[in-house]
Amino acid sequence: MELLRNVVVLLHIVGFAVTFGAWAAEAAARRFRFTRTMDYGLLLSLLTGLALAAPWPAGVELNYPKIGIKLVILVVIGGLLGMGSARQRRTGSAVPRALFWSVGVLSFTAAALAVLW
Ligand code: HEM
Repeated sequence: MELLRNVVVLLHIVGFAVTFGAWAAEAAARRFRFTRTMDYGLLLSLLTGLALAAPWPAGVELNYPKIGIKLVILVVIGGLLGMGSARQRRTGSAVPRALFWSVGVLSFTAAALAVLW
């Protein structure tokens, strides 16, 4: 059970890596666009995060305030990605820079919170 939990944590971190990696790639290429890859990474983070939020195996201690804040951050990132993607489709151009940077900063903040708190 412990090994299974660790595998889910690994997949949870992969979700972050996919979202942040896709975002960093767009930033490095100076395209500043939102991509489906970011959505998929976020979905993976959400599903694995929810699975980890249940106290299994017995005896595991969870920091629910931290988990709650990460959930809020994830929902905000999802909203920003949705807004930005819709705008991209409508206008055909990159998302506004503030919107683009917000996603990277929030994603990084959630990971920092997970590791440092
Ligand atoms: C962008 C959003 C998120 C990021 C970047 C993120 C990042 C991380 C990282 C790096 C870890 C491993 C480090 C650690 O164990 O503390 C982790 C663990 C965990 N995350 Fe997240 N997370 C996010 C969202 C969520 C959400 C939405 C939930 C639940 C609803 C969640 C629940 C958990 C749980 C329960 C653990 C394991 C803690 C433990 O077993 O000690 N995370 N997260």
